Amino acid sequence: MSTENKNWEYADAVEGTGHIKLKEKYGLYINGEWVAPRSKTYFSSTNPHDEAHLAEVAQANKQDVDAAVIAAERAYHDVWSKITPAERGKYIFRIARLMQEQAKELAVIESLDSGKPIREARDIDIPLACNHLFYYAGWADKLDYAFPNQKKEPLGVAGQIIPWNFPLLMAAWKIAPALATGNTVVLKPAETTSLTALKLAEIIDEAGLPPGVVNIVTGFGDTGAAIVAHPKVSKVAFTGSTAVGKLIQKTIAGTDKKATLELGGKSANIIFDDAPLDQAVEGIINGIFFNQGHVCCAGSRLFVQENIADKVIRKLKHRMQSLQIGNPLDKNTDIGAINSSEQLKTINKYIDIGRKEGSECFQVDCALPNKGYYCKPTLFINVAQSSVLAQEEIFGPVLTIQTFRTIDEVIQKANNSPYGLAAGVWTDKGSKIFNLTSKLKAGVVWANTYNKFDPASPFGGYKESGFGREGGLHGLGAYLK
Ligand code: NAI
Ligand code: MG
Repeated sequence: MSTENKNWEYADAVEGTGHIKLKEKYGLYINGEWVAPRSKTYFSSTNPHDEAHLAEVAQANKQDVDAAVIAAERAYHDVWSKITPAERGKYIFRIARLMQEQAKELAVIESLDSGKPIREARDIDIPLACNHLFYYAGWADKLDYAFPNQKKEPLGVAGQIIPWNFPLLMAAWKIAPALATGNTVVLKPAETTSLTALKLAEIIDEAGLPPGVVNIVTGFGDTGAAIVAHPKVSKVAFTGSTAVGKLIQKTIAGTDKKATLELGGKSANIIFDDAPLDQAVEGIINGIFFNQGHVCCAGSRLFVQENIADKVIRKLKHRMQSLQIGNPLDKNTDIGAINSSEQLKTINKYIDIGRKEGSECFQVDCALPNKGYYCKPTLFINVAQSSVLAQEEIFGPVLTIQTFRTIDEVIQKANNSPYGLAAGVWTDKGSKIFNLTSKLKAGVVWANTYNKFDPASPFGGYKESGFGREGGLHGLGAYLK
């Protein structure tokens, strides 16, 4: 492993790839069949670790999207809205179980295609994706209990567009509540991470889901735009950039399409002087360096109480220096590859801006692999509240650090952001936690932990972080009228 200047060295422990099955070329999964794209165009899905080609993926055009939506509409009217809710639940359970059986293969493909550490794919992405399906499968025949004395109905065809940071997990977040509530689906994965969604299509096929209930189309932004604009799509569920979220709102303005948008973030992680500092440092590391900082709710703005700032920063630098950076398939790797060369460029642009803005920059002293898209974990210390670095989403392993003296000051600073997705609070005092959770304008507030997810708890943002909630009962409501 290419990590120098470490206190210790680990022997390589690279996960094997012999058990994975990838086709050379993937068509589109429409109406329960694999079809060649009408566009006749394919693009390459690559591994961000070594830029190796993994598979050819179909690029869906407007006609392809139209075919998928029509299949979904037909399946909605003819089959999915007619079968009993308990039957719907059985199909979702079946998908979840098959996914569990193939967990190892899915984890390796996820790591290869996205650059995330195998440990995270194996221990977080895939198990959480399964849990999400199990959770919503259980709700399918209990909607009357979820919404007592209300007559709820599905919306019809849901168009779902997902990003590249948690590819299979986001697919599960989208598909599970849609199917449980009786909607049918056209899902588009992100162009750099289509492969686990295509494996999911194989699982859905194996589960015997009626044709057209879930359709998976691959492609770029124009494919996504065609889904959003399609007149037969009744619900748009999107996770991705705030810029595209705004475009989607423009497209659907004046139509009766329902939407949930889960957009960016610039979440505050707040450490008080009475916090258990070693745990807090682990929480900071997990908050920003988990998945290379490709996390919408990443704790990317650290606020440390002034009297402990030096100590926390010293501990943080020391801990960062022991992070293992490199081959995502190595089981010891903490930090894998940045998802794409574009994203690496974006992150490097922000690091340059930070240096020019004049705050102190610290980067881990290590050698990066000489191929692939890698970025050193980076701190910016003494960052001004008004600086670009403290305001804009970077979506990479870059943490800004600010200090505060009083609770009111940190609440004001933490809320001074166009985003409001998540926050973290580290303190020994329950009263302080309750005070902050009620005043922080964030959809999720973690106390003495960070980046913990559960299918039963709703997730979503305030302000420019989007609207609507995914997960829990709230996530069901988003697919019903
Ligand atoms: P993006 O928003 O362009 O991509 C997300 C998904 O939307 C992809 O499937 C993409 O193909 C699709 N898409 C793109 N243009 C579209 C359009 N006009 N209509 C419908 N769908 C469209 O995000 P991108 O360019 O990959 O990343 C840019 C920035 O967005 C990142 O640097 C990060 O700050 C933020 N981001 C936030 C995410 C989150 O989880 N909230 C996830 C990914 C990116
Ligand atoms: Mg890829």
